[in-house]
Amino acid sequence: MSADASTSLPSESNPRHIAIIMDGNGRWAQKRMMPRAMGHKAGVKAVRAIVDYCARHNIEVLTLFAFSSENWRRPVEEVSMLMSLFISTLQKEINKLDKNNVRVRFIGDRAAFSEQLRSKITEGEIQTQNNTGLTLVVAANYGGRWDLSQAFQKIAGKVSEGELLIQNVDEQCIDQHLSTADLPEPDLFIRTGGEQRVSNFLLWQLAYTELYFTPTLWPDFNQNALEEAIKSFKTRQRRFGHTGEQVLNKTITL
Ligand code: IPE
Ligand code: IPE
Ligand code: MG
Repeated sequence: MSADASTSLPSESNPRHIAIIMDGNGRWAQKRMMPRAMGHKAGVKAVRAIVDYCARHNIEVLTLFAFSSENWRRPVEEVSMLMSLFISTLQKEINKLDKNNVRVRFIGDRAAFSEQLRSKITEGEIQTQNNTGLTLVVAANYGGRWDLSQAFQKIAGKVSEGELLIQNVDEQCIDQHLSTADLPEPDLFIRTGGEQRVSNFLLWQLAYTELYFTPTLWPDFNQNALEEAIKSFKTRQRRFGHTGEQVLNKTITL
C-alpha cells in the first residue's frame, strides 16, 4: 500500500477501494433445488455487473475474494468445477475487460494452480497491465495469514542478507511486502450471504475499513445492492482514532 494509503476521504465521497467476500452461491442454488455449481455460474453474472458498475463509477480498486486458501477443503468435484470456471471466465472476459480499460491483478498463492490456470492468470495480467481505469484484484487461493507469512518471509530474507535493518521492519515495511503493496487500503468491505466474519480475507489491510454485511446471496447482489452499500458507507464518520469533533471541525488531516 502506498504511503498515503490511510489518507481518508470525506465520507461523502465514493470509496476508492471496495473489497468483497462474494458468499452465498451454494445456498442460492440449493434454494432452487439446483446443484451448487449453478450457484457459482450465477455468481459470475453478478461479478460482471459489479465490475461494470465500478468501472463506470470511477472506483479505483475492486478486490473480489474468489477462492480462499481454505476452499481446497471442499469436495474435489466442487474445487475442480471452480477451477474450470475460473479458466473459462478468464478466457471469455479478458478482452472485454481490456477494452473497458480495466487492469486485472491476482493476489494469492498461484503455485497450487494448474499450469493452464497459471498461464491464463499471467496472460491476463500482462494484457491489461497498462490500463488506467478500474484495477480489478482477484483474490484466488488467497488467505490473509498467507499474505502476512509471505511478507515476513521476504522481510526475513532481506534482513538475513543484510539488505534491511531490523529496526526498519515497521508497519510501512510490512505493508510494502504484502500482495497489495501498491494499492490504497480498502475503504469499504462488503460480505454477502449473511455471515458476519472475515474468513481470512485481507486481515492486515482491513484495519480501518468500513464493514458492511448483507443477507443477500451473491448471485442476487446487483448494481442496486452495491449502491445501497455505498450509500451506507457515505453515512459513516471515519475517525481513525480521532474524536468526532476533530473530524467535523477539520482540525486534523485524515
Ligand atoms: C462463495 O459461495 C463462493 C466460494 C467460496 C468459491 P459459497 O460456495 O461459499 O456459497 P455458500 O456459502 O455455500 O452458500
Ligand atoms: C469465503 O467464503 C471465501 C470466498 C467467498 C471465496 P466461505 O464460504 O469459504 O467462508 P466460510 O467457510 O463460510 O467462512
Ligand atoms: Mg460460503
